[in-house]
Amino acid sequence: MELKETIKKRKSVRHFHEDKPVDDSTVRAILELAIRAPSAGNVQPWIIHVVRKPESRNLLTEAAHGQSFIAQAPVALVVCIDKERTLSTYGQRGLELYSIQDTAALTEHILLTAVDMGLGTCWVGAFDEEACSRALSLSRNERPVAIIPLGYPAKDPADRGRRRLDEVTVWD
Ligand SMILES: Cc1cc2nc3c(=O)[nH]c(=O)nc-3n(C[C@H](O)[C@H](O)[C@H](O)COP(=O)(O)O)c2cc1C
Repeated sequence: MELKETIKKRKSVRHFHEDKPVDDSTVRAILELAIRAPSAGNVQPWIIHVVRKPESRNLLTEAAHGQSFIAQAPVALVVCIDKERTLSTYGQRGLELYSIQDTAALTEHILLTAVDMGLGTCWVGAFDEEACSRALSLSRNERPVAIIPLGYPAKDPADRGRRRLDEVTVWD
């Protein structure tokens, strides 16, 4: 798929085929490309958890205030900030800004790569970080910043539309 087409095709998917598994080689192929994302100083302060166990996905749904499509998808990817990695190079600015931007770039790469491979995702940011950390037994070094359910879309979501370009740009 062409990049332009992939970008246009990406929409948040919240209904997944529960009986259509996503094999490890597909997840690996998505992540191999996603980790090409840029990061400040190429520090790559991220850890990605590949969550398949139904009990863990149920706990993630609970942590995300009942967003049940997380448990419905066969895989959930949880993107975490590796705090030590960013702190040791960039201190507070790394922790408060770069690591957020770095993991956001990684997350967007995951979303686009998944579409390119015929899969659907949704970027989930509304969740209780403590509950998510408990669900995955994360160390204090890891801060979960995005949960990404991954699976084959069961429905084609409606286009959410966007603000007009003129409204969001300032030309000199
Ligand atoms: C930082 C961030 C957090 C988000 N959190 C959630 C979420 O918790 N639950 C959800 O259903 N969608 C969530 N979304 C998806 C947005 O609602 C969605 O991207 C937006 O409505 C545009 O729709 P589209 O992705 O289909 O183009 C989040 C997106 C971003 C970028």
